[in-house]
Amino acid sequence: MDLNLLINFSYIISTVMFILGLKMLSSPATARKGNMISAIGMLLAICAALVSQGIDYKWILLGMAVGGGIGLAAARLVAMTAMPEMVAIFNGFGGAASLLLAWFEYSGKYQGLESAPAFTAFVLILSVFIGGMTFSGSMIAYGKLSEKISGKPYLFAGQHIVNSLILITTVILGVLFVLNSGAGNGYFILLIVIALIFGVLSVIPIGGADMPVVIALLNSYSGLAACAAGFVIHNNILIVAGALVGASGIILTKIMCKAMNRSLANVLFSGFGSTKTAAAGKGAQQGEIKPASQEDVYYILEAADSVAFVPGYGLAVAQAQHQVRELGEILEANGTDVQYAIHPVAGRMPGHMNVLLAEANVPYDQLIEMDEINPNMETVDVAVVIGANDVVNPAALDDESSPIYGMPIIEVHRAKTVIVLKRSMNPGFAGIENALFFNDNTRMYFGDAKASITGLIAEFKG
Ligand code: TAP
Repeated sequence: MDLNLLINFSYIISTVMFILGLKMLSSPATARKGNMISAIGMLLAICAALVSQGIDYKWILLGMAVGGGIGLAAARLVAMTAMPEMVAIFNGFGGAASLLLAWFEYSGKYQGLESAPAFTAFVLILSVFIGGMTFSGSMIAYGKLSEKISGKPYLFAGQHIVNSLILITTVILGVLFVLNSGAGNGYFILLIVIALIFGVLSVIPIGGADMPVVIALLNSYSGLAACAAGFVIHNNILIVAGALVGASGIILTKIMCKAMNRSLANVLFSGFGSTKTAAAGKGAQQGEIKPASQEDVYYILEAADSVAFVPGYGLAVAQAQHQVRELGEILEANGTDVQYAIHPVAGRMPGHMNVLLAEANVPYDQLIEMDEINPNMETVDVAVVIGANDVVNPAALDDESSPIYGMPIIEVHRAKTVIVLKRSMNPGFAGIENALFFNDNTRMYFGDAKASITGLIAEFKG
């Protein structure tokens, strides 16, 4: 068979595997298999691309061994809580790879020799600019998430003007480069420098807790940069894979913004979380809180016919997922119907709760999405809120002055009884008080979530 035909056929198979893999990532039950199918598709694509180039493979193999080894070690060693940081680094490297590819292509083929065709010059600039800003932006995101730099939003006067000027300069330099790409070395280097600065300036105004949204966006950018690089080197699979990453990244960004009822502009420019707004909203501080002891909570759970666990960021902090699963199993053995209600932005990364609960082997069919559990909330005997706060705050429904007004929540306040596990009355990410804690049907069970649940398990066993 013709080699070219075989390579293109492999690319089509890879494309189908990528799409299938992405589709399977949308459910926790099929996500692992989807990841594996996409990875095999990528291996096929890499092999086909290498064969098509007919190059000296020893450097490629060395690069693959070193890169693959580092990737494997990073993926195995990374703690679950540090996953967003790792994704940030990988996105950044994706952007840098597109930048380097375009730079290499430019310096090898056109620089000082001849002008590139206008379209090639255009995609060269796109991959360099988007790749460069993805790299530097992702490094800042990594720094904020790992707390190597402050997670506070950094806002300065005239920030939007500076960013606008940078974009205008980029367009002007881009046009000059397209018109004169053969001798346009100076423009090219300047564009790389500007892209790196722009990446930093775009991410520093965003607070650490909003980084997951930014990472999804940067992920999308890294896909677009790869797509542009695919046009530069005329490689179909790079174009397709880049477009898929670009599109899925932007869809994920949109889903997260919608789940917080915030626009992307609000996430990118408002510096949300920069100030603690504990007094914001009128819903706070109504009535007395009613603390419950370990024994009280035991009796309530022991008598319940149905229990819905509602995990949040505090579950991740306490690393209490295994204890929650064990308590769930004990309750089931006791004849209780057990469910886990999952809010799409509970925690600090997309799918945070799904990943934690999957790690503890909680059965997928017990994970119920917010839209599915809310209509049935009145039938739930006990809602056990574990380290969640904003995602169960009723101010989102009825307090127009609240910063989270309009954000969809898990409506635990409509359950017959609510038990809230947290360490103190401190607010969550949005920095606001929660009227739920003062409701008549709410009992506060204070303490670290892991210790509190371990205590309950001991009560049931003893
Ligand atoms: P939060 O509102 O941040 O509340 C977490 C609660 O956990 C806190 O009230 C804290 O109270 C408690 N906690 C912390 N450590 C604990 C421990 N060891 N044991 C028991 N409780 C502990 O979390 P949430 O309800 O999951 O909401 C997520 C927030 O993040 C939302 O505002 C969302 O918009 C935002 N956000 C999420 C994402 C993604 S992608 N997930 C992206 C951007 C923004 P104590 O300190 O009193 O214990």
